[in-house]
Amino acid sequence: MITYTDSLSGITDQQLKGFFAGWSNPPSPQIHLNVLQNSHAVILALDSDAGKVVGFISAISDGVLSAYIPLLEVLPEYQGRGIGSELVQRMLGQLKGLYMIDLVCDEGLRSFYERLGMRKAFGMMQRNFDRQNGKES
Ligand SMILES: CC(C)(COP(=O)(O)OP(=O)(O)OC[C@H]1O[C@@H](n2cnc3c(N)ncnc32)[C@H](O)[C@@H]1OP(=O)(O)O)[C@@H](O)C(=O)NCCC(=O)NCCS
Repeated sequence: MITYTDSLSGITDQQLKGFFAGWSNPPSPQIHLNVLQNSHAVILALDSDAGKVVGFISAISDGVLSAYIPLLEVLPEYQGRGIGSELVQRMLGQLKGLYMIDLVCDEGLRSFYERLGMRKAFGMMQRNFDRQNGKES
C-alpha cells in the first residue's frame, strides 16, 4: 500500500535508495536525506509493505511570497500509478498560501504539470554538473 507523509520522522537514508535515476553523478542516500531535511517542505510516498520511500517532492521557500520545487521523482518501478500527480497536488496544497510557486522541467513534462494546474513560463538556469552530488563541505 502507498501512503503519503510530510514528515521525515523515522526516515533513514537506507529507505532512500534508487533515486536520481539517470544522473551521471547522483547524490548519495545520505546527501538525499540532507537535502530533504534542509527543504522548506517535503512529501514522501512510502510503500508500507516494502518499508521504503518510493517517491518524493521537495520545496524551498522564503515562507512569505515564493517557493521553488527543485525535485520530484518516483522510482521507475512505481511510475505510472498516479504517485507523481499525488505528490505534486499535495505539495501545491501545502504551498497554496504563497504568491509564486515555480519549477523547471523538460518540455515533455509540460502536459503532466498543466493537468495539475500549472502554466508554462520562460526561465533561465545554470547547472554546475561537477556539484551534482552536493556542495563540498
Ligand atoms: C515525472 C514523474 C515524477 C511522474 O511520476 P508518475 O508517478 O509516473 O506520475 P503519474 O502516474 O501521476 O502520471 C503519469 C503521467 O505523467 C506522464 N509522464 C511521466 N513522466 C513523463 C515524462 N518524462 N515525459 C512525459 N510525460 C511523462 C505519463 O505519460 C503519464 O501520463 P498519462 O497519465 O497520460 O499516461 C516520474 O516519471 C519521474 O520520477 N520521472 C523522472 C524524474 C523527473 O523527470 N522528475 C520531474 C522533474 S521536473
